Amino acid sequence: MRRDRAAFRRALLDHFDRNRRPLPWRSERTPYRVMVSEVMLQQTRVETVIPYYRRWLRRFPGWDELAAAPLDDVLRAWRGLGYYGRGRNLHRTARLVRERFGGGLPEDPDALRELPGVGEYTAAAVASIAFGRPVAAVDGNVRRVLCRLFDLEEATAARLRDEAARLLDPGRPGDFNEAMMELGATVCTPRSPGCDGCPVEAWCRARASGTVDERPRRRARGKVPRLEYATAVAVADGAVLLVKRPETGLLAGMWEFPAVRLGDGERPGRRSVATAALRLLEDFGLRGRLAARLDPVRHAFTHLHATYRPVVVTLPGMPGAPHPPRTASASGADDDGPRDAAWADPARFDDFALPVAQQRIAALVRSRLRGTRPRASG
Ligand code: ADE
Repeated sequence: MRRDRAAFRRALLDHFDRNRRPLPWRSERTPYRVMVSEVMLQQTRVETVIPYYRRWLRRFPGWDELAAAPLDDVLRAWRGLGYYGRGRNLHRTARLVRERFGGGLPEDPDALRELPGVGEYTAAAVASIAFGRPVAAVDGNVRRVLCRLFDLEEATAARLRDEAARLLDPGRPGDFNEAMMELGATVCTPRSPGCDGCPVEAWCRARASGTVDERPRRRARGKVPRLEYATAVAVADGAVLLVKRPETGLLAGMWEFPAVRLGDGERPGRRSVATAALRLLEDFGLRGRLAARLDPVRHAFTHLHATYRPVVVTLPGMPGAPHPPRTASASGADDDGPRDAAWADPARFDDFALPVAQQRIAALVRSRLRGTRPRASG
């Protein structure tokens, strides 16, 4: 630091006080609201989170309502935000708050870290913003700010934590942490940072060295695998088969149209998709007739790009209770037990926690089936 820390804190916090974005979780702060917003903001942009956060608070205004809600409702409210484990963990936290913590979150960062899905960053953010504890929170934005302030190509988590802890304003730790995040999000951006308007330019070593654009060094991104799935839209008497995903792993506990991954290197020809879908349904004890192919639906997860190729298969007669096999899973992951399955009325797909790509398939299915009224469901 070329100038002293107190002046750095003042410059940063003055700027934050004058320019802070009026984000919905910044009014009426409660530990619950801080926790919900911080969990939603993990890996998700502020603009994306805002409408979800508002809707969430209407549906689950506090710990009690969240703890009392069935998991399916929680996953449905999370739908579209991605990384559904976060919603599931918030729900578990609500129940811990009710059952173990007497209705409120623990205030200590170490105790917060014991909660499901709460890592070092989230524990520090909640402890400082909700409870005024003097702990520094380092997220991706703060990491970039620190690497530039100290002109570091890269830095270990321990180094960043130490630098952030030294800079932290012990009088306003929550505001300080948010001010650092906000600086990274609005001024000290990855590309074309606004150094001319930066309140802490005078302290920035990368600025002085002309290395801002190279700090921190960008990591080369690995290639993400592209996976192809045959999705079976099994229709019996107007109702459509949905299966529940395993309780662990990608999209845990959410619902989907049964799907099977096409083998590596398999070119998804029309025939192979239909054959795979029909074979998959046979595993459910269902034999049907290929009725239509729907447009493919593509979805980019962080670690894989999936293409779902839905085929509509009509089954004769009224469906009985579906019997899912042990291995059907669109993730291609090994299953760890039998799964739920249900015949769903297409008009009520929204009753199921369907992830985004599955909602898009559902829309295609609905428009295809419009006019047929299901008699069976459940
Ligand atoms: N990103 C994570 N937490 C945040 C917060 N409280 N304000 C702005 N951006 C954030």
